[in-house]
Amino acid sequence: MCGIVACRTAEPAAPYLVRALGLLEYRGYDSAGIAVQTGDGIAARLRTVKRVGDLETQLAGWDDSALSGVGIGHTRWATHGSVTEGNAHPHSDCHDRLSVVHNGIIENATALRRELELSGHVFASEVDSEVISHLVEEAIVVTDDLLTAVRLSVDRLEGSWALVAMDAATGRLVAAAHRSPLLIAHSPHGDFVSSDVAAIAEWVDDFRTMRDGDVVEIADTLLWENHGVATSAPEPIASPWLRTELAHTDHADFMSKEIGEQPEVAARILDELTPGIADGSLWRALELPPFDRIAIVGCGTSLNAGRVIGTAFSRHGHVPHSAIVASEASSTIVEPRTLVLAISQSGETADVLRAIDQVDLGLSSLVAITNNPHSTLARRADSVIDSHAGPEVGVAATKTFVAQIVTGVCFALSALVATDRVDRYHARWLADDLALIPDLLAQSLAVSLESVPPLVARLHAATGYLFLGRGAGVVYAAEGALKLKELSYRWAEHYPAGELKHGPLALVEPGTPVIVIDNDDPRLEGNIAEVRARGGEVLRIGSIGSDIPALGRGIAEPRRGGIEAWGPLESVVPLQVFARQLALELGRDVDKPRNLAKSVTVD
Ligand code: F6R
Repeated sequence: MCGIVACRTAEPAAPYLVRALGLLEYRGYDSAGIAVQTGDGIAARLRTVKRVGDLETQLAGWDDSALSGVGIGHTRWATHGSVTEGNAHPHSDCHDRLSVVHNGIIENATALRRELELSGHVFASEVDSEVISHLVEEAIVVTDDLLTAVRLSVDRLEGSWALVAMDAATGRLVAAAHRSPLLIAHSPHGDFVSSDVAAIAEWVDDFRTMRDGDVVEIADTLLWENHGVATSAPEPIASPWLRTELAHTDHADFMSKEIGEQPEVAARILDELTPGIADGSLWRALELPPFDRIAIVGCGTSLNAGRVIGTAFSRHGHVPHSAIVASEASSTIVEPRTLVLAISQSGETADVLRAIDQVDLGLSSLVAITNNPHSTLARRADSVIDSHAGPEVGVAATKTFVAQIVTGVCFALSALVATDRVDRYHARWLADDLALIPDLLAQSLAVSLESVPPLVARLHAATGYLFLGRGAGVVYAAEGALKLKELSYRWAEHYPAGELKHGPLALVEPGTPVIVIDNDDPRLEGNIAEVRARGGEVLRIGSIGSDIPALGRGIAEPRRGGIEAWGPLESVVPLQVFARQLALELGRDVDKPRNLAKSVTVD
């Protein structure tokens, strides 16, 4: 949620900044901007309410001979203040000497703004972040030192921040972080600060993550402080990304690339993890205390994946599980000996981080399942499970969902063996079922790419969609409805099919599309008949003979325990393809749906 980049390079900064912003755009795309130090000791600013590509176009008209290699940039997901150029970052002081980019929320911004206005500061925007540039301006008059000025300024802030301040008079850059992610990297190209290493992966091999309370001057030797005390820099971490992974060569968009990668992602995870299931070694390596129950914490798609993992614990090990919507966790009581599984692809979701702060863990332990093992969530957990999906750029989660489920179920089964709840023969039998997943996903993809487009062409005028499932299919119906909403901006609801007659059936009228995850539960027939009797247009995602015959019983007979434990995982593929295809028919941007961002770092 908002992306930050800053650099100190020997070559002009602007092209670096704009290139990195293009890769950070998934964090917010309401507006974007850069500020670069000029030879006159002031900052030149370029901002747009269009996409980052517009900055690139505008940059072509810039005379960069007067511009240095020092600059900062930002992509915005609006929280305070509407989407206008004036509200776009970077924000500056009254003299264009100081510029600031910020991600987070300044909770005491109104009081600070009033105070600063009383002492003569003139504000140019409605956003909370602007107070930071004026606080730094106020402090630098006294100290004439950017590091001290930023330290004094963040001491006044309440809330969360990842920020970089640039002093165009001196070319100095200072970064600060508190409850919002930021990292620093040095390479032969220069020094970089970024919200995400993926954005600067082209130029750096490793990076250092900032901790809460850190203030750092980006210089040849980093000056690193924590809560005002000089401290050593954290050890560098090798960058996990290759530049080639961040392009959608051969695909129309990232979403299509990432949907297509799912069979391979599942195969890679299973190759690595299945050997540790039947002997419980995968779980034992985490060195966690015994547990009596599971609590899943997450949001959106990750919470859906968590529900599947929780079900695997319950169905096979009789371990009770509950799923906690992270943003509602404050009233949750976690009993002792609960294993809390916090699940988040980004590992930076503010709702999840706040939830684990609010929940009294007491005698319970916290395990993070994340695609970012260096994230804030990973740092706060007792143990970290890397979901190994590889970079996911499309804002709608696809392959991270599959990766979370496959990874989480492997660990769940291993845990059940390690805690004597499942014997190793049963576990091996389930591992054989897991091994079918890559082929099931691949077959499902092939079928979906063929059968979904004509169905979407027929139904795209509908204004609302229902998704139904039973048992282990319900969570996939939920994921299908979520994908459809976020990508197509059409209404979609999901229900356990039996609930239909208790209210939602009133929504069904002639032509209403009703998508059914048909995992062979005989009770579905009655529910489908009820819809058809009202003229509803039923689309069955099932085995051969269905409208979308993507559930691969054909290659996978017999689906033994797996179908009960983790459900028809391959049904997510036609659901993703359906949502993407509908969005394209309606002219939506499938990689960057409106109003959303990939890493939701505000709560
Ligand atoms: C939907 C989607 C969101 C995320 C949610 C949690 O496609 O991507 O619902 O799943 O915002 O994000 P993470 O997993 O980063 O915690």
